[in-house]
Amino acid sequence: MAYGRLVAVRTIHVIGIGAGDPDQLTLQAVRALRGTDVFFVLDKGEVKSDLTRLRRDMLDTHLPEGGYRVVEARDPERDRRAGGTAYSPAVGDWRSARAGIYERLIAEELGEDETGAFLVWGDPALYDSTLGILEEVLARGTVTFAYDVVPGVSSVSALVARHRTGLNRVARPVQITTGRRLAEGFPEGVDDVVVMLDAHQTFRRYADQDIDIYWGAYIGTPDEILVSGPLAEAAPRIERLRAEARERKGWIMDTYLLRRNPRGD
Ligand SMILES: C[S@@+](CC[C@H](N)C(=O)[O-])C[C@H]1O[C@@H](n2cnc3c(N)ncnc32)[C@H](O)[C@@H]1O
Repeated sequence: MAYGRLVAVRTIHVIGIGAGDPDQLTLQAVRALRGTDVFFVLDKGEVKSDLTRLRRDMLDTHLPEGGYRVVEARDPERDRRAGGTAYSPAVGDWRSARAGIYERLIAEELGEDETGAFLVWGDPALYDSTLGILEEVLARGTVTFAYDVVPGVSSVSALVARHRTGLNRVARPVQITTGRRLAEGFPEGVDDVVVMLDAHQTFRRYADQDIDIYWGAYIGTPDEILVSGPLAEAAPRIERLRAEARERKGWIMDTYLLRRNPRGD
């Protein structure tokens, strides 16, 4: 009878850490943090360094002081000038560049029998490329590892919770989309639309319609700002608050739900 040799396999946790409030870490996430030897943190530069600090604070809260190792790397810049049809290749190049960095981090910084973790903002399943990048690294075949995913509280869940509303109305669908998509038109067949990654306040295009907005910036953090109400009234207020906050902090992250009211005709 042949016995298989036990082979050490690197393990990676992809941990959703919530949208900004350290209390949004789940017990499952805390358990995964405690079982991790090396944390990989990718920083986009000064704009996002606040977020890197927040991640560090979370680690300090839940792990013995100094009892963990963090490896920081610089996120490659994405070519945001590429518009229209050029958008996808630019995103593809950026993902490949990231895959190269992840590959190197895993190969050089994670021992064969160690466990690493990527701390992902919100929920790793929502507008986040970590899972796709890890699959790309595995497909390259130069490093092997097993990985699992710990779900997190997304900014979408946090937004509607703070506004004490639901995502959908009774038996109705809801769509989650981007500002870029919303600029192409209000999605068909749906009246409740959550918009993320919107640098251009695209909601302004629909201010002449009977729509309510539930908006939030820096949700879950001490800088949180919430505004809700009829879009026509709320839009100028959001514009002003958003501009002030952006000026003050140098960056902004906001998400909103647009809720179109049924027509009376
Ligand atoms: C790359 S996506 C990541 C989403 C994340 N995986 C999640 O589950 O929320 C970044 C976008 O998430 C939204 N976002 C994330 N955190 C937020 C927060 N604390 N407050 C408001 N919006 C947030 C913003 O729309 C931002 O442009």
